[in-house]
Amino acid sequence: MNYRHAYHAGNFADVLKHVVLVGVLDHLGRKPAPYCYMDTHAGRGDYPLGAAETQRAGEFREGISKLLDAPDAPTLAARYLALVKELGVEDGTLVSYPGSPRLALAIERPDDRAVLCELEPREADALRALTRRDSRAAVHERDGYEALAALVPPREKRGLVLIDPPYEEPDEYERLERTLIAAIARWPLGVYVAWYPIKHGDQSGRFLARMAATGIRRQLAVELTVERDDLPGGLNGTGLLIVNPPYRLDRELAEALAWLQPKLAREGRGRFRVSWQVPE
Ligand SMILES: C[S@@+](CC[C@H](N)C(=O)[O-])C[C@H]1O[C@@H](n2cnc3c(N)ncnc32)[C@H](O)[C@@H]1O
Repeated sequence: MNYRHAYHAGNFADVLKHVVLVGVLDHLGRKPAPYCYMDTHAGRGDYPLGAAETQRAGEFREGISKLLDAPDAPTLAARYLALVKELGVEDGTLVSYPGSPRLALAIERPDDRAVLCELEPREADALRALTRRDSRAAVHERDGYEALAALVPPREKRGLVLIDPPYEEPDEYERLERTLIAAIARWPLGVYVAWYPIKHGDQSGRFLARMAATGIRRQLAVELTVERDDLPGGLNGTGLLIVNPPYRLDRELAEALAWLQPKLAREGRGRFRVSWQVPE
């Protein structure tokens, strides 16, 4: 396992993923019953922007840094940016970027829970240190797919599963699909968010088509690209498949992406979409 999220922290893919995360958790928090947040690939939870690898890659400069002072953010984007600032700004400067566990715990209420899985021992250590005093959080140093299969449905029977793999292994889509479909069968009312990269010649279109053919209802795709889709080499865009999105999240995301995409785009290139793959 070579993947280190510190290289990518705060990039445009993190921005989209975390806007969706905030949107879903805010909806779940509107009902009084507690919910459970399950993060299969949790990372270390917080990324100091001064770290050597983060500085060297500098991806946050093409992501969160472009947004911090931008005016007129619509509701969901403004809420996400306020959380990032609350967690990471010191003396007027963004010094660290919060990972998905830290954002989730900042939103959760006292009776909500977070089940955080991270396989890489140093990342899991850092996450344990970050969440040590928070009784809502449980860190599992184990394979996130196996954990998901074993741990759904959570006792709350309400909640969100975020699946955010590094796509380093050739069978990543296969494992993701198999685990996601099995989890939905056991817990059909859960909200599921699965991240995927958009690169030239990648498998994301086929992944969405295979998921649409499963018969699972209520599948929403959210995509944002910052480049032409057919540019070879790097990450041209980012997408999330959301199963069972909360009511009206599609509209909130469309509004947020219409504001975000032009700011994150490279010289006006790229596109966004929020579209139902399988409707209500
Ligand atoms: C994209 S990063 C996670 C970022 C995090 N979700 C966030 O938004 O802040 C993916 C993480 O998955 C971890 N990882 C890789 N394979 C895993 C597996 N099979 N199970 C659990 N974690 C894994 C990597 O060590 C890495 O920290």
